[in-house]
Amino acid sequence: MEKKTFYITTPIYYPSDKLHIGHSYTTVAADAMARFKRLTGYQVRFLTGTDEHGQKIERRAQAAGKNPQEFVDEIVAWIKKLWQIMDISYDDFIRTTEERHKQVVQKIFQRFYDQGDIYKAKYEGLYCTPCEAFWTERQVVDGNCPDCGRPVELVSEESYFFRMSKYVDRLLAHIEANPDFIQPASRKHEMINNFLKPGLADLCVSRTTFKWGIPVPFDPDHVIYVWLDALSNYITALGYLSEDDSLLQTFWPADVHLIGKEIVRFHTIYWPIFLMALGLELPKKVFGHGWLLLDDGKMSKSKGNVVDPVVLVERYGSDAIRYFLLREIPFGSDGHFSEEALVQRINYDLANDLGNLLHRTLAMLKKYFAGRVPAPAEKDPADEELRRQAEALPRTLKSLMDELQFSGALAEIWKFIACANKYIDDMSPWALAKAGRTERLQTVMYNLVECIRIVSVLLLPFMPKTPPRIWRQLGIAERTELHSWDSILSFGRLPAGVQTTPGEVLFPRLELTGEGAPVRQATKKDKVQAQAAKPAAAEKTTEGRGPLSLEEFARMDLRVSEVVAAEPVAGADRLLKLQVDVGGERRQVVAGIAQYYRPEELPGKRILLVANLKPAKLRGVLSEGMLLAATDDEGNLVLATTDAPIKSGAKVK
Ligand code: ME8
Repeated sequence: MEKKTFYITTPIYYPSDKLHIGHSYTTVAADAMARFKRLTGYQVRFLTGTDEHGQKIERRAQAAGKNPQEFVDEIVAWIKKLWQIMDISYDDFIRTTEERHKQVVQKIFQRFYDQGDIYKAKYEGLYCTPCEAFWTERQVVDGNCPDCGRPVELVSEESYFFRMSKYVDRLLAHIEANPDFIQPASRKHEMINNFLKPGLADLCVSRTTFKWGIPVPFDPDHVIYVWLDALSNYITALGYLSEDDSLLQTFWPADVHLIGKEIVRFHTIYWPIFLMALGLELPKKVFGHGWLLLDDGKMSKSKGNVVDPVVLVERYGSDAIRYFLLREIPFGSDGHFSEEALVQRINYDLANDLGNLLHRTLAMLKKYFAGRVPAPAEKDPADEELRRQAEALPRTLKSLMDELQFSGALAEIWKFIACANKYIDDMSPWALAKAGRTERLQTVMYNLVECIRIVSVLLLPFMPKTPPRIWRQLGIAERTELHSWDSILSFGRLPAGVQTTPGEVLFPRLELTGEGAPVRQATKKDKVQAQAAKPAAAEKTTEGRGPLSLEEFARMDLRVSEVVAAEPVAGADRLLKLQVDVGGERRQVVAGIAQYYRPEELPGKRILLVANLKPAKLRGVLSEGMLLAATDDEGNLVLATTDAPIKSGAKVK
């Protein structure tokens, strides 16, 4: 049978500073997927790397008093180490400063120029250096980048332009014909409505105001735009336009590019257009996942509110961190990171559910059968249900993983763990032992060990360090035939007679003391920004009745905001607690809408928020803003929203 192939990529990271746990999120997800595909028989290529050129890096290096190459080398070495401690099983790590990449990017540029896709003209416009993105007047918000909120710079220079407009119709047709191409679907609509339908300007693809980049081959005063350079990594790493392009032949088109939502535009507009111009197939799927947020919004270096993955791994172990990231946040949505939530997951899911299943089973096995797995003997209908669940699990997981539903896949594994724990309680092996029902006891104990083995194999992609620890206790560490996907497709492959040995506790229960090394590193700048974001306490509210003056109205900061999550407020029937995203900043808002909206209806809705209302506590829950709503003819409260999709954070005027 022909070997199935699977090519998955992460973004290539800017080595402008150390990475935070938000960056690890993309890579952990890609790694789980790569491992899952390998486990299920695919020939996998998993690519990650670093995006080392551009003005931002050049400026950072200057500030650090280093030359850019020296500067990035150090950080790249650190990044590789980080991936090692997080068990990232990449097959290739591409650096955009490598010759194999630079030469091919030059060939690509030359080819675009030769075929008339690139022309030279004067560029005058706005540029966001942190995002390395060009913007139009219409797109910037109060002089700031619509993506990151930082000031844009006016740039004016002679540049090369790529004729984007030539390919727009083809791209739109492709997006319409391939519903899986941009995932989740909400991001697809945003791309079509906000960028493609209004018409695509030609893209400036070279810069002359700095040097740190790949020179345009026929005009070396220009360096190639960093996104054209960076996006090409997905094919330069496969040997495109090199002497040996066998990897390209095997793996292109990519099965999935995993990226964060703020770079969907580059991956679903520019990248496909470049590929069309090269006559290459488009990737099968681009999946834009959500952000990992902290209490004060998106974790980001510029805000200084980052969580250091190295400290987290040292404190909790990489498997627990991987589990948390993949389980806590449905892939595609924004999610909240807190150490409290992490410790809860460790205690409930890992220590209690998984840890206890192993511990209880092996302790009983030791007591009743000297640790040796007995052959199943007397059967019972309850066994059939357990077996049915076990055998359904691999198929369910396959389909969830194909949809990149990591959290759903883990939830299914944990449902099965719960079944196995319930089986212990229902079958009460201690009672069987007491009643001398040895044959029935044999079956129950065998089934439990087999359940643990099945779980251990299913956990491999998500928590690669844990299964070998379980296998050692089960006495099957060397029996690799019992670690395979095929070995769990039917229940009962574990041979009787295996000698188990209860060992170390897999995940000790933890208490969050708030002491120890800081995982949340707040900088001075962070504190200053947080202060600035707070409404001045001394400011008086406008008491006047009468007509509102323009000045008074102008004091009101109304913003389009996206609901990220909603839940009831305990003990308050009318209130819902919402987490909303205001242009990348996370807010909590308590609203009296529980009689009119169910919490699950709200995520994804774009609402209008009074963003500078003085924070208040409702039933003891902090509320940082108020949403606008009106009552309809039937007396239902209806949330005010916008006529067409508008980016969250946009000011309502
Ligand atoms: O964008 N939560 O690199 P990058 C979740 N070099 N994901 C986050 C995150 C957070 N708080 N912060 C960052 C670049 N990320 C370009 C890519 S690809 C050809 C070039 C994710 O280092 C972010 O969404 O700024 C992105 O997917 C990845 O980290 C790399 O970000």
